[in-house]
Amino acid sequence: MNKKVFLSGVQPSGKPHIGNYFGAMKQFVDLQNEHDGYVFIADYHALHSLRNPKEMNENIKNILLDYLAIGIDPKKVTFFKQSDISEHTELTWIFDTITTMPFLMRAHAYKDAEAKNKEIDVGTFNYPVLMAADILLYSPDVVPVGADQKQHVEIARDIAEKFNSTYGETFKLPNSKIMKDMAIVLGTDGRKMSKSYGNTIPLFAEYEEIKKCVMSIVTDSSGGIPQNVFAIHRLFRPEAELNKIYKEKSGKYKDLKEMLVEDMEKFIAPLRERRKEFAKDIPKALAILKAGSEKAKKVASKKMEEVREKIGVQVY
Ligand code: TYM
Repeated sequence: MNKKVFLSGVQPSGKPHIGNYFGAMKQFVDLQNEHDGYVFIADYHALHSLRNPKEMNENIKNILLDYLAIGIDPKKVTFFKQSDISEHTELTWIFDTITTMPFLMRAHAYKDAEAKNKEIDVGTFNYPVLMAADILLYSPDVVPVGADQKQHVEIARDIAEKFNSTYGETFKLPNSKIMKDMAIVLGTDGRKMSKSYGNTIPLFAEYEEIKKCVMSIVTDSSGGIPQNVFAIHRLFRPEAELNKIYKEKSGKYKDLKEMLVEDMEKFIAPLRERRKEFAKDIPKALAILKAGSEKAKKVASKKMEEVREKIGVQVY
């Protein structure tokens, strides 16, 4: 029986945080045993926010180590880098020609930028189309992501339908896969954990950094249960246990935060150690990524041949 296929990516736009992990990255590890998987570093997507080449280069190497450390197994998953596969940008152009501006203007990211009166570059506007190409080239059944990416997967579906109805059945329609309890992991200020809000807890934080982040969690003094602490704590200890503990220690915010620090350290320390091991041999890690890109390239170029055939540019 053919295995189902999953695909997802993470931008190398800085250190991954526990929101990225519980919302998306953990799912990749959980899915890799029963699915064929594609996991990639979305470096071209990161260009819209990261224009320092040295930092980009470092971030790509860092996220590579991060993925290996969380347990992505390159024997089970095709693990690659977006910019190695030129078919992603090629297909984006073809999709651009069948996608209307009003349709893309409905995307949340565009609307947010517009509401903030930001000067919006074409890349940011077109971001969902590149994402549609990322996804559709590999015919995944499911795309594991956090809730903030749900609309992007729906846009990919819509673009696939538009292409299929214009040129004939070519692309499989993907579905997002969102963890019910982890759809939006909250940050230290109670808003969605996000690099742009500065409210993150890095996934590979050292003990002192964990402590600093946890102590900075905003608590309101009205009730006995600090909701923002609880919201993060539930990622590391079953809620049933926490309910009891938080009731017993009602109002004792410092004690509860100290307990969260220890629970997080227990979880993060082994990941940090694994990462240090992989970091000892960067050339080996890079070779894994390169081999993955070579594998992905074969799949993507086969799909592009089919697309070129369908749109009528294939004459030789
Ligand atoms: P990125 O790099 O912003 O985030 C990576 C993944 O982490 C999830 N995530 C969260 N989940 C729960 N709670 C949070 N607070 C939280 N913050 C982030 C995101 O939903 C995402 O799944 N556009 C994508 C990268 C991408 C992609 C793709 C993903 C490019 N092409 C194709 C899937 C398929 C992004 O910016 O993710």
